[in-house]
Amino acid sequence: MFNSIPCQPIAQVTGIFLCEREMLVLQGVTKQIGGLTAVSNVDLAIKTDEIVGLVGPNGAGKTTLLNIISGILPPTAGRVTFLGEDITGLKADRICHRGIAKTFQIAKSFPDLSAEQCVMIGLLFGNKHAPGMHEAKKESAIILDEVNFPMEKAGTLIRNLNVVELKRLQLARALACHPKLLLLDELTTGLNPKESKEAVGLIKQIRDRGTSILIIEHVMSVIMGVSDRIIVLDHGEKIADGRPYEVVNNQRVIDTYLGDIDAF
Ligand SMILES: Nc1ncnc2c1ncn2[C@@H]1O[C@H](COP(=O)(O)OP(=O)(O)OP(=O)(O)O)[C@@H](O)[C@H]1O
Ligand SMILES: [Mg+2]
Repeated sequence: MFNSIPCQPIAQVTGIFLCEREMLVLQGVTKQIGGLTAVSNVDLAIKTDEIVGLVGPNGAGKTTLLNIISGILPPTAGRVTFLGEDITGLKADRICHRGIAKTFQIAKSFPDLSAEQCVMIGLLFGNKHAPGMHEAKKESAIILDEVNFPMEKAGTLIRNLNVVELKRLQLARALACHPKLLLLDELTTGLNPKESKEAVGLIKQIRDRGTSILIIEHVMSVIMGVSDRIIVLDHGEKIADGRPYEVVNNQRVIDTYLGDIDAF
């Protein structure tokens, strides 16, 4: 529904117009790792209140792109603009304070902290204006409950959590940073179909509360169920960007990606 609202140019950033609702804009983003071009000249935009799916074969550059947006890796070339400001190459903590939080493809965290302490770290260090310890403790319980983390395990050490609990905890830690844009790297991988369905509902709820989402997933039923728009990467290049039904019917996408996987 959001895609039907036309963008109006309101500001000019080095030669391109920013649309009113475009919160994140990537221009010509490239990442060389050794001799390999992991991400090649990618342009994309994420609008306010949008859920965008990012898909592509293994090694396509999806995680690298999220790492560039979140400041974990600097790009070799190109520009990242967030809420009208150039954030290219800023450190991850600065970018987090500006409103971009991320979950990781491999769910791991400080093994000797409890789940509650992990979320408190997000609250205390992921926000420009950190709450006090007492408030952080109270809010961490609310966030853990929101992501359906089993509350009886709030005091359990992270090393003793199973993969589903770790995934929920990662999401809780990211939400604790109160992001305007949430980057999810394979959040539902490893979940059973019922858990994946719950995760899709939760992702939509998060968007409905005002957080835009860029989500990497391999499970096409999840991506189709959740995305307003889908972007496809292959060998670091963007090969498609459109509404879900357009993208899954795109011949190049079928040839390079969908034809190879048990997608649906
Ligand atoms: N730190 C690194 N050192 C060397 N090569 C790397 C590094 N990180 C990524 N690459 C390479 O960059 C390319 C893109 O990797 P990336 O992890 O971004 O892909 P992906 O699309 O997330 O894949 P997957 O679906 O398997 O998670 C791959 O060829 C990968 O081997
Ligand atoms: Mg990846």
